[in-house]
Amino acid sequence: MEVNIEQLEKDFQAKIDAGINIEPKDWMPERYRHQLIRMMSQHAHSEVVGMLPEGNWITRAPSLMRKMVLLAKVQDEAGHGLYIYSATETLGISRDEMTNQLLTGKAKYSSIFNYPTLNWADMGAIGWLVDGAAIVNQTALAKCSFGPYARAMLRICKEENFHQKQGYQILANMMQGTEEQKQMAQDSVNRFWWPSLMMFGQVIKTLLTLMNSCVGKLNSIVMTIYVSVLLTEQCHRQKQLE
Ligand SMILES: [Fe+2]
Ligand SMILES: [Fe+2]
Repeated sequence: MEVNIEQLEKDFQAKIDAGINIEPKDWMPERYRHQLIRMMSQHAHSEVVGMLPEGNWITRAPSLMRKMVLLAKVQDEAGHGLYIYSATETLGISRDEMTNQLLTGKAKYSSIFNYPTLNWADMGAIGWLVDGAAIVNQTALAKCSFGPYARAMLRICKEENFHQKQGYQILANMMQGTEEQKQMAQDSVNRFWWPSLMMFGQVIKTLLTLMNSCVGKLNSIVMTIYVSVLLTEQCHRQKQLE
């Protein structure tokens, strides 16, 4: 039987326009499949690589409670990697192949995880800012057209809320502590606020570079805008998930 590609493409587009999810057994254009594999595997790799700097701090967490919280967070990130690897496998690529692409450098992961974690406050800044930025990106992905990815994102976003809260709590506690602890928290935020903004991609980088070249010290203003975007986004997201 002759397959009419044009008709298949039309049906595919009609589904997208109607907001119907595309499922693994549905026909999809090769380019759509290819882009999804690239994007989802990069996301899964970022979840797994993202665990590494935080995992290093489990034994150095300052209290048993903090160890338990960090352990739970790191475990969540491993789970996120697994959900997304499984969702990507439905597109016809094996986990071995994806791992191989990561190890050979063919597949990328989020560059934020290449920054070293120098002190305990970094666990706070990462949770608050990096997971916060990830939530903003992932909330949009929860509405994407590929069913397994969208459903994985819904669950992941709920868990990310806990990650952001624990990060905020670490920093808020340290800011009520000794002068040294306050300095440590400030140092960490100074190092992480800019790289976490980069998680929004090249557009925001160009925009911020332009702004910085026009007006001298904009860091605090940009930081304020960023935090208000995060907070607004979080309120909006919580309403959606309830
Ligand atoms: Fe995650
Ligand atoms: Fe997270």
